[in-house]
Amino acid sequence: MNTQVSLDIQVMLETQGLCKYWGGLKALDGVSLQFYDKQLHGIVGPNGAGKSTLLNLLCGHYKPTHGRIMHKGEAIEAIKPHAFARRGIGRSFQKTNIYPGASCLENCCVAVQRRMGGNFNLLRSRYSQKVLDEIASDALDKVGLGARRDQIAAQISYGEQRQLEIAMVLATAPQVLLLDEPMAGMGHEESQLIIELLNRLKREYCIVLVEHDMDAVFELSDQLTVMVDGQHLTTGTVSQVRDNPRVKEAYLGQGDEVF
Ligand SMILES: Nc1ncnc2c1ncn2[C@@H]1O[C@H](COP(=O)(O)OP(=O)(O)O)[C@@H](O)[C@H]1O
Ligand SMILES: [Mg+2]
Repeated sequence: MNTQVSLDIQVMLETQGLCKYWGGLKALDGVSLQFYDKQLHGIVGPNGAGKSTLLNLLCGHYKPTHGRIMHKGEAIEAIKPHAFARRGIGRSFQKTNIYPGASCLENCCVAVQRRMGGNFNLLRSRYSQKVLDEIASDALDKVGLGARRDQIAAQISYGEQRQLEIAMVLATAPQVLLLDEPMAGMGHEESQLIIELLNRLKREYCIVLVEHDMDAVFELSDQLTVMVDGQHLTTGTVSQVRDNPRVKEAYLGQGDEVF
């Protein structure tokens, strides 16, 4: 009997030699990583390291110059962007994606509609407004914004807006959550709310978290990758990465005293 197979953690998403060039600039240069189900994989690195580029490739927003993206063992780098979402790969953006004049509930409904690739007839036939509202409500409950559902997005706090963005991704029923700096611009207490939220969500999803807040990354990451100048420097547990002298070197002069 082979019990090993069932004990193995599932690789949800994988990159193999992934590259993105803009003319002569190698924004991402041969990055090979594995992202596991029900784990949070933190990505850190100085500005311009290629972190957002990596997320943009993983969600299909950019096409790679070279290399592969595998989802559950299938190559997906050539499929259309909306097909990434349909496969359950959802992302939040570094710049906000919220419609400020719409309610929190409406914002989540729009996120579900976008996932359908703008095919509103198909959407109508599959989901009545009632079902759509239920999906949106559940997503808001999950991030702790249930009481804000009918409030206009522009009127909730900045921290709540970032929670709303995560709810908008959750509403699309993802398996993979790609999060680009969800704690940017937050105070300590607001960040703490997001940390608690991600600690809960990582038991259910494969999460790739790009984040500047090192305390948050160290607390949350099961695996941690450091990138520098478009290249992969190292991947390991938080303590393995913190003990790596090459990481300290990469951060020298960056004003980050964390390593
Ligand atoms: N659309 C683009 N066109 C040209 N260069 C880009 C584009 N997007 C990113 N870059 C460049 O790629 C590099 C990596 O950027 P990015 O992935 O945003 O870094 P990070 O998120 O780690 O700060 C940077 O030098 C950036 O200027
Ligand atoms: Mg970025």
